[in-house]
Amino acid sequence: MFKLLLITAHPSPVSFNFALRHAAVARIAAGGGETLTSDLFQMGFGSLAGEGDFNNYDSALPMDLMEAQKNAPRHGGFVPQILAEQEKLVAADAVMLQFPIWWGSYPAPLKGWIDRVLSYGFAYGRSKTLPDKKVLYSVTTGGVSGPEEVAEYHRRVDALAEDVFGYLRWEILPPFFAHDPDARSAEQRNTLIREFQDHLAQHFGI
Ligand SMILES: Cc1cc2nc3c(=O)[nH]c(=O)nc-3n(C[C@H](O)[C@H](O)[C@H](O)COP(=O)(O)O)c2cc1C
Repeated sequence: MFKLLLITAHPSPVSFNFALRHAAVARIAAGGGETLTSDLFQMGFGSLAGEGDFNNYDSALPMDLMEAQKNAPRHGGFVPQILAEQEKLVAADAVMLQFPIWWGSYPAPLKGWIDRVLSYGFAYGRSKTLPDKKVLYSVTTGGVSGPEEVAEYHRRVDALAEDVFGYLRWEILPPFFAHDPDARSAEQRNTLIREFQDHLAQHFGI
Protein backbone atom coordinates (compact mmCIF):
# COMPACT_ATOMS: atom_id res chain seq x y z
CA MET A 1 0.00 0.00 0.00
CA PHE A 2 1.30 3.43 -0.97
CA LYS A 3 2.30 5.47 2.06
CA LEU A 4 2.81 9.25 1.95
CA LEU A 5 4.42 11.37 4.64
CA LEU A 6 2.81 14.81 4.34
CA ILE A 7 4.66 17.64 6.05
CA THR A 8 2.59 20.81 6.33
CA ALA A 9 4.01 24.11 7.52
CA HIS A 10 1.37 26.81 8.03
CA PRO A 11 0.23 28.50 11.25
CA SER A 12 -3.47 28.44 10.32
CA PRO A 13 -5.51 25.24 10.06
CA VAL A 14 -8.10 27.15 7.98
CA SER A 15 -5.58 28.39 5.40
CA PHE A 16 -5.51 27.36 1.76
CA ASN A 17 -2.38 25.35 2.59
CA PHE A 18 -4.50 23.28 4.96
CA ALA A 19 -7.24 22.95 2.33
CA LEU A 20 -4.57 21.38 0.09
CA ARG A 21 -3.34 19.23 2.98
CA HIS A 22 -6.85 17.84 3.57
CA ALA A 23 -7.41 17.35 -0.18
CA ALA A 24 -4.16 15.37 -0.39
CA VAL A 25 -5.16 13.06 2.48
CA ALA A 26 -8.57 12.46 0.82
CA ARG A 27 -7.06 11.78 -2.61
CA ILE A 28 -4.45 9.36 -1.28
CA ALA A 29 -7.16 7.49 0.68
CA ALA A 30 -9.39 7.36 -2.43
CA GLY A 31 -6.47 5.75 -4.28
CA GLY A 32 -6.13 3.08 -1.58
CA GLY A 33 -3.09 4.66 0.07
CA GLU A 34 -2.33 5.98 3.54
CA THR A 35 -1.04 9.38 4.66
CA LEU A 36 1.10 10.02 7.71
CA THR A 37 0.90 13.70 8.65
CA SER A 38 3.10 16.21 10.44
CA ASP A 39 1.54 19.66 10.95
CA LEU A 40 4.68 21.42 12.07
CA PHE A 41 3.31 24.70 13.50
CA GLN A 42 0.51 22.89 15.35
CA MET A 43 3.05 20.39 16.77
CA GLY A 44 5.29 23.26 17.90
CA PHE A 45 8.10 21.76 15.87
CA GLY A 46 11.17 23.86 16.66
CA SER A 47 13.48 25.32 14.04
CA LEU A 48 16.63 25.41 16.19
CA ALA A 49 18.99 22.48 15.71
CA GLY A 50 21.48 21.76 18.52
CA GLU A 51 21.98 20.11 21.89
CA GLY A 52 18.23 19.97 22.43
CA ASP A 53 17.93 17.42 19.61
CA PHE A 54 19.53 14.75 21.81
CA ASN A 55 18.33 13.06 24.99
CA ASN A 56 21.58 13.41 26.88
CA TYR A 57 24.01 15.84 25.26
CA ASP A 58 27.09 16.74 27.29
CA SER A 59 27.04 20.55 27.30
CA ALA A 60 30.80 20.61 27.91
CA LEU A 61 31.31 19.27 24.39
CA PRO A 62 31.59 21.71 21.49
CA MET A 63 28.42 21.62 19.35
CA ASP A 64 29.29 20.00 16.02
CA LEU A 65 25.85 19.13 14.64
CA MET A 66 26.94 16.66 11.97
CA GLU A 67 29.17 14.82 14.45
CA ALA A 68 26.46 14.84 17.09
CA GLN A 69 23.88 13.51 14.62
CA LYS A 70 26.25 10.79 13.45
CA ASN A 71 26.95 9.81 17.06
CA ALA A 72 23.37 10.26 18.29
CA PRO A 73 23.40 6.96 20.27
CA ARG A 74 26.36 8.31 22.27
CA HIS A 75 24.21 11.31 23.27
CA GLY A 76 21.22 9.26 24.40
CA GLY A 77 19.65 9.20 20.93
CA PHE A 78 17.34 11.75 19.32
CA VAL A 79 14.54 13.33 21.35
CA PRO A 80 11.10 11.74 20.74
CA GLN A 81 9.90 14.52 18.38
CA ILE A 82 12.77 13.90 15.95
CA LEU A 83 12.70 10.13 16.36
CA ALA A 84 8.97 10.05 15.54
CA GLU A 85 9.59 11.97 12.31
CA GLN A 86 12.42 9.66 11.33
CA GLU A 87 10.22 6.62 11.98
CA LYS A 88 7.51 8.11 9.73
CA LEU A 89 10.14 8.68 7.04
CA VAL A 90 11.28 5.06 7.23
CA ALA A 91 7.67 3.91 6.81
CA ALA A 92 6.84 6.23 3.88
CA ASP A 93 7.30 5.62 0.15
CA ALA A 94 7.14 9.32 -0.65
CA VAL A 95 7.22 12.68 1.09
CA MET A 96 5.28 15.83 0.25
CA LEU A 97 6.17 19.25 1.59
CA GLN A 98 3.14 21.61 1.73
CA PHE A 99 4.03 25.21 2.54
CA PRO A 100 3.65 28.88 1.63
CA ILE A 101 6.68 30.62 0.16
CA TRP A 102 7.91 32.98 2.86
CA TRP A 103 10.67 35.37 1.84
CA GLY A 104 11.49 33.15 -1.10
CA SER A 105 11.95 30.06 1.05
CA TYR A 106 10.57 27.67 3.69
CA PRO A 107 8.72 28.78 6.84
CA ALA A 108 11.20 28.33 9.72
CA PRO A 109 9.77 25.12 11.26
CA LEU A 110 10.03 23.37 7.90
CA LYS A 111 13.65 24.44 7.49
CA GLY A 112 14.14 23.16 11.06
CA TRP A 113 12.53 19.83 10.12
CA ILE A 114 15.00 19.50 7.25
CA ASP A 115 18.00 20.41 9.44
CA ARG A 116 17.02 18.23 12.39
CA VAL A 117 15.22 15.19 10.94
CA LEU A 118 17.26 14.57 7.79
CA SER A 119 20.27 13.91 9.97
CA TYR A 120 23.79 12.88 9.09
CA GLY A 121 24.18 9.09 9.27
CA PHE A 122 20.41 8.64 8.88
CA ALA A 123 19.43 10.51 5.70
CA TYR A 124 22.88 11.16 4.25
CA GLY A 125 26.53 10.29 4.68
CA ARG A 126 28.40 7.10 3.88
CA SER A 127 26.66 5.11 6.61
CA LYS A 128 23.16 6.46 5.97
CA THR A 129 20.34 4.04 6.75
CA LEU A 130 17.30 5.69 5.12
CA PRO A 131 16.47 4.29 1.67
CA ASP A 132 15.84 6.82 -1.12
CA LYS A 133 12.29 8.17 -1.45
CA LYS A 134 10.27 10.33 -3.80
CA VAL A 135 9.53 13.93 -2.85
CA LEU A 136 6.97 16.43 -4.11
CA TYR A 137 6.89 20.15 -3.26
CA SER A 138 3.45 21.81 -3.11
CA VAL A 139 3.75 25.55 -2.56
CA THR A 140 1.52 28.59 -2.41
CA THR A 141 2.70 32.10 -3.22
CA GLY A 142 1.48 35.64 -2.67
CA GLY A 143 0.91 36.04 -6.42
CA VAL A 144 2.69 36.45 -9.72
CA SER A 145 2.65 39.34 -12.19
CA GLY A 146 3.11 37.24 -15.33
CA PRO A 147 4.84 34.26 -17.00
CA GLU A 148 8.32 35.50 -16.09
CA GLU A 149 7.51 35.46 -12.41
CA VAL A 150 5.86 32.03 -12.78
CA ALA A 151 9.11 30.76 -14.33
CA GLU A 152 11.13 32.44 -11.58
CA TYR A 153 9.11 30.59 -8.89
CA HIS A 154 9.68 27.33 -10.76
CA ARG A 155 13.44 27.95 -10.74
CA ARG A 156 13.37 28.93 -7.08
CA VAL A 157 11.42 25.86 -5.95
CA ASP A 158 13.50 23.55 -8.17
CA ALA A 159 16.61 24.97 -6.47
CA LEU A 160 15.13 24.52 -2.97
CA ALA A 161 14.33 20.88 -3.76
CA GLU A 162 17.63 20.21 -5.51
CA ASP A 163 19.74 21.61 -2.65
CA VAL A 164 18.26 19.11 -0.21
CA PHE A 165 16.72 16.16 -2.02
CA GLY A 166 18.97 16.27 -5.06
CA TYR A 167 21.87 15.99 -2.63
CA LEU A 168 20.16 13.01 -0.96
CA ARG A 169 19.63 11.55 -4.47
CA TRP A 170 15.88 11.19 -3.99
CA GLU A 171 13.54 11.33 -6.97
CA ILE A 172 12.17 14.89 -7.14
CA LEU A 173 8.65 14.91 -8.64
CA PRO A 174 7.24 17.95 -10.49
CA PRO A 175 6.12 20.61 -7.96
CA PHE A 176 2.58 21.98 -7.67
CA PHE A 177 2.00 25.75 -7.48
CA ALA A 178 -1.03 27.65 -6.19
CA HIS A 179 -0.42 31.33 -6.87
CA ASP A 180 -2.23 33.85 -4.69
CA PRO A 181 -5.00 31.54 -3.44
CA ASP A 182 -6.42 34.30 -1.23
CA ALA A 183 -7.34 36.42 -4.29
CA ARG A 184 -9.33 33.63 -5.93
CA SER A 185 -13.06 32.95 -5.84
CA ALA A 186 -14.41 29.87 -4.06
CA GLU A 187 -14.96 28.28 -7.48
CA GLN A 188 -11.38 29.00 -8.60
CA ARG A 189 -10.05 27.58 -5.36
CA ASN A 190 -12.07 24.40 -5.88
CA THR A 191 -10.70 24.10 -9.41
CA LEU A 192 -7.16 24.49 -8.04
CA ILE A 193 -7.81 21.78 -5.46
CA ARG A 194 -9.06 19.38 -8.15
CA GLU A 195 -5.98 20.13 -10.31
CA PHE A 196 -3.83 19.48 -7.25
CA GLN A 197 -5.49 16.11 -6.61
CA ASP A 198 -4.99 15.13 -10.28
CA HIS A 199 -1.32 16.17 -9.98
CA LEU A 200 -0.87 13.88 -6.96
CA ALA A 201 -2.68 10.97 -8.61
CA GLN A 202 -0.51 11.32 -11.72
CA HIS A 203 2.84 11.64 -10.01
CA PHE A 204 2.30 9.25 -7.10
CA GLY A 205 0.71 6.75 -9.50
CA ILE A 206 -2.43 6.21 -7.38
C1 LIG B 1 6.41 36.04 6.47
C2 LIG B 1 5.82 36.00 5.09
C3 LIG B 1 6.66 36.06 3.99
C4 LIG B 1 6.14 35.96 2.68
N1 LIG B 1 7.01 35.97 1.62
C5 LIG B 1 6.51 35.78 0.36
C6 LIG B 1 7.40 35.68 -0.76
O1 LIG B 1 8.62 35.75 -0.66
N2 LIG B 1 6.85 35.49 -2.00
C7 LIG B 1 5.49 35.39 -2.17
O2 LIG B 1 5.04 35.20 -3.30
N3 LIG B 1 4.64 35.47 -1.12
C8 LIG B 1 5.11 35.65 0.13
N4 LIG B 1 4.25 35.70 1.20
C9 LIG B 1 2.79 35.48 0.96
C10 LIG B 1 2.41 34.01 1.17
O3 LIG B 1 3.21 33.15 0.39
C11 LIG B 1 0.94 33.79 0.81
O4 LIG B 1 0.17 34.62 1.63
C12 LIG B 1 0.54 32.35 1.00
O5 LIG B 1 1.26 31.52 0.11
C13 LIG B 1 -0.96 32.16 0.71
O6 LIG B 1 -1.37 30.87 1.16
P1 LIG B 1 -2.29 30.73 2.48
O7 LIG B 1 -3.59 31.43 2.15
O8 LIG B 1 -2.47 29.28 2.71
O9 LIG B 1 -1.55 31.44 3.60
C14 LIG B 1 4.75 35.83 2.50
C15 LIG B 1 3.89 35.80 3.62
C16 LIG B 1 4.42 35.87 4.90
C17 LIG B 1 3.47 35.81 6.10
